[in-house]
Amino acid sequence: MNRRSFIKKGMFGGTSLLVTSSFNYSNVWGNTNNNRNLPAVLGGQKSHTALWPAWPIWNPKTDEKRLLEVMRSGVWTRNKVVSEFEQRWAETVGAKRCLAVVNGTNALIASLKQFDIGAGDEVIVGPYSFISTFICILENGAIPVFVDTDPETFQLDANKIEAKITPRTKAILPAHTLGMPADMPKIMDIAKRHNLIVIENACLSWLSEIDNKKIGTFGNAGCFSFQTSKNIPIGEGGAIVSDDDEFMDRCYSYHNYGSPYGSVVLPEGVKGGTVMAGSKLRITEYQAAIGLAQLERLEMQTDIRNENAQYLKSKLAQIPGIVPYKLIDNVTKISAWQFPFRYKKESFKGLTRADFLKALRAEGVSGSTGYVTQNDKPYLKSYFDSKNFRKMYPKKMLNFAKYIEKNHCPENDLLCEEAVWFSNSMLLASKSDMDNIAFAIEKIHKHAEQIKNSFK
Ligand SMILES: Cc1ncc(COP(=O)(O)O)c(C=O)c1O
Repeated sequence: MNRRSFIKKGMFGGTSLLVTSSFNYSNVWGNTNNNRNLPAVLGGQKSHTALWPAWPIWNPKTDEKRLLEVMRSGVWTRNKVVSEFEQRWAETVGAKRCLAVVNGTNALIASLKQFDIGAGDEVIVGPYSFISTFICILENGAIPVFVDTDPETFQLDANKIEAKITPRTKAILPAHTLGMPADMPKIMDIAKRHNLIVIENACLSWLSEIDNKKIGTFGNAGCFSFQTSKNIPIGEGGAIVSDDDEFMDRCYSYHNYGSPYGSVVLPEGVKGGTVMAGSKLRITEYQAAIGLAQLERLEMQTDIRNENAQYLKSKLAQIPGIVPYKLIDNVTKISAWQFPFRYKKESFKGLTRADFLKALRAEGVSGSTGYVTQNDKPYLKSYFDSKNFRKMYPKKMLNFAKYIEKNHCPENDLLCEEAVWFSNSMLLASKSDMDNIAFAIEKIHKHAEQIKNSFK
């Protein structure tokens, strides 16, 4: 019998518990307080018993009117409600223009395409991000060049960008990882000096700011996602924002089969346009109606999440081996989409991250392991092996083993092994729920040895 099943047996009526356990349980079973201090995985009380807030949130009283109006009108394809959503989002982030599109991935693909980033070009990215950050480059026929992550901030390390610039470098694509800003002042300075385009992957950064300027408005363009897990959940949806009229006209045409700007709905007074190669990335009127409803609560929910994140951070930072995220200088707001920290198993008697997460789950607190490494994955090779890439690049540039070697990011590899995330809906809970999370981790830390043995 292993220690875990032994404890289970003990909990459910076994009598051998006090005799064979190396841990002193003698005060535990008769004493509610101590039982609470014992990790749930060792038979103690859960730290958190309530349900975490559900996500997405839909409030029939406030949210359904606009949606039903759209449904009953029969105007479902792109029209005035989409334009209204675009205008609201442009105003919210302080950009001149916004184009709503089907998702964040295609917002990124379209943006790169409309800045003419393609065959033979290199785009600098950080590896600690979602796959869309990389496939948007490859889908345009360009090659991602990986710059290592700063493990303290979880963002791409702006100090390492310049070493990766080559004559082929056309753009920098900073992803604001998990809703916390990448170092835009530094990145914009580098871009200016090297004449590079900057496309911000702001897919997780709704309302984040540096020096009160919204993320997504520093670069030539910013791209957002409104997929269901995001802080503005629409089901699927995305947006491109920019102050560059010509670029936005092209994006508009591209999202509507290449037809001229305004070809679906021309808001009053807007002129310009072009006819060009296009695709179709339009969102529907009912998606926009959902988006408008979600926008009403974004600010309030962001404040709650950010306050909770700040509070949780202050508590977790006191636990040895738990290293919460740091922010770059001058951040005035984040959009805490996830709460990330590094889990240092050395401070937990070697308890693995997987076992730490199991013990945490037993406490009623679910965490995830976050991103995996991206700069070594087979999907990259599938692009390199494709007919298009073989025609676009000399053979030596498609040597995948060499590419992997050149793009090795050791800090990021370690981060992917150490990171733990808590979700955006958990961050909508109460302050005392944050206390429960911290308490659960403290318990695990104090009993790390016993927990480790229980999993043997
Ligand atoms: C960092 C990042 N970029 C891009 C995307 C893609 O967004 P979408 O799912 O809307 O295509 C996501 C989605 O999770 C993301 O997290």
